[in-house]
Amino acid sequence: VIFGSSQEGSIIVAHEIAELIKEKAASNKPCVLGLATGSSPVKVYEELVRMHNEEGLSFANVVTFNLDEYYPMDKDNIQSYFYFMHEHLFNHVDILPENINIPNGTVKSEDLHQYCIAYENKIKDLGGLDFQLLGIGRTGHIGFNEPGSHFNSATRNITLDYITRVDAASSFLGIDNVPRKAITMGVGTVRSAKRIVLLGWGINKAEVLRETIEGEITSQVPATYLQEHHNTTFVLDEGASSEL
Ligand code: GLP
Repeated sequence: VIFGSSQEGSIIVAHEIAELIKEKAASNKPCVLGLATGSSPVKVYEELVRMHNEEGLSFANVVTFNLDEYYPMDKDNIQSYFYFMHEHLFNHVDILPENINIPNGTVKSEDLHQYCIAYENKIKDLGGLDFQLLGIGRTGHIGFNEPGSHFNSATRNITLDYITRVDAASSFLGIDNVPRKAITMGVGTVRSAKRIVLLGWGINKAEVLRETIEGEITSQVPATYLQEHHNTTFVLDEGASSEL
């Protein structure tokens, strides 16, 4: 779906999420959301916060799982996704702290494998993700599933692609400060969501979105795996869709 601006597209997506939250609340069920960081979802979170403040949208029944976190990474580091999510969403709504799940960048390396299995199991125990919000990286990554990621990959510790680190360099004040690793939900974790919305804004994403939507399905562009998901929508603006 192509919108005139990222603002318009973001509002529509936020409203879909809000409807789902209300629907689940009406039947006393948790609403399990998979959330993304980066600039792409910022306006969606802004609109959700506005709906919380002005329309009484409650997050009391919402359980969230974030896609990824740099590794290693302290929670109070302003570059952490933990910080980002609190800044843009969690500090402004009534979500219960115990319902917030973000991969923990401080887990000891010897405990990481078990930690990732537990993260994955926690999602499964809740019946899976009802909705997964995604952005896309220039390498075609979703979460931090870089080229080479397997279709069925689960939550794990990965090595970041050089291009991804270049793209993150400005917020870390230089590439040398960008972590080399991250924890990410897998492609399989993302694909198991009942509904997926990928946001793409701006001309910088046009080329990778063309490959993602019109190219062959390949592990070299992990976002192409979404072509096989039965309920995924790509929400784009004019710039991002200019190569389609
Ligand atoms: C990071 C995140 C991804 C995100 C991507 C794009 O790599 N791990 O989840 O989709 O950045 O970021 P942006 O939305 O800022 O373009």
